[in-house]
Amino acid sequence: MTGAPALAKVAVLISGRGSNMQALAAHAGDAYEIVVVASDKPEAAGLAWALQAGLPTFALSPRGIGKQAYEAALDAALREAGAEWIALAGYMRLLSDDFVARWRGRIVNIHPSLLPKYKGLDTHARAIAAGDAEAGCSVHLVTEELDGGEVLGQARVPILPGDTPDTLAERVLAAEHRLYPAVLADMVRR
Ligand code: GRF
Repeated sequence: MTGAPALAKVAVLISGRGSNMQALAAHAGDAYEIVVVASDKPEAAGLAWALQAGLPTFALSPRGIGKQAYEAALDAALREAGAEWIALAGYMRLLSDDFVARWRGRIVNIHPSLLPKYKGLDTHARAIAAGDAEAGCSVHLVTEELDGGEVLGQARVPILPGDTPDTLAERVLAAEHRLYPAVLADMVRR
């Protein structure tokens, strides 16, 4: 008799409220499980949620210890937790080339634009200023190039007359919450 296939072990990295982490957690148990939620901001609201949800957490600020020591400790914590994949979910720190190389092909990120458009910050304001008819979000592999790795999935939403960066962000965020769990599940299965 064969049992259910093992769930892929995912570490989720956050820096803030963690709504994408919550969406990932809501869909865990089918293709993947979350083995640790890690944050570079010990005060991140998402970390408190993860703790309450009973998820293992790891919090460490690079402040005072430097990027190299911080990333070494993060790497050790993720491996200790048994992570096979890393899902960045509002993680606002650039990972070093060394870190990316150690996890090559196993780090994914969600970005609030239709990549390759609007890499970096202020994506919604830039899409509105450009007069775009639609915006959206992308899940992509993380490489050494900021928001530059292979796009694994995208969701589109309209930009409506009168939209502000905030109203557009809200519409895109709802799409993010649907897209990320689906793409992550596909990714770990392939
Ligand atoms: C999301 O818009 C995500 O695309 C971007 O940062 C935001 C994080 O939001 N990378 P949350 O912390 O998941 O609520």
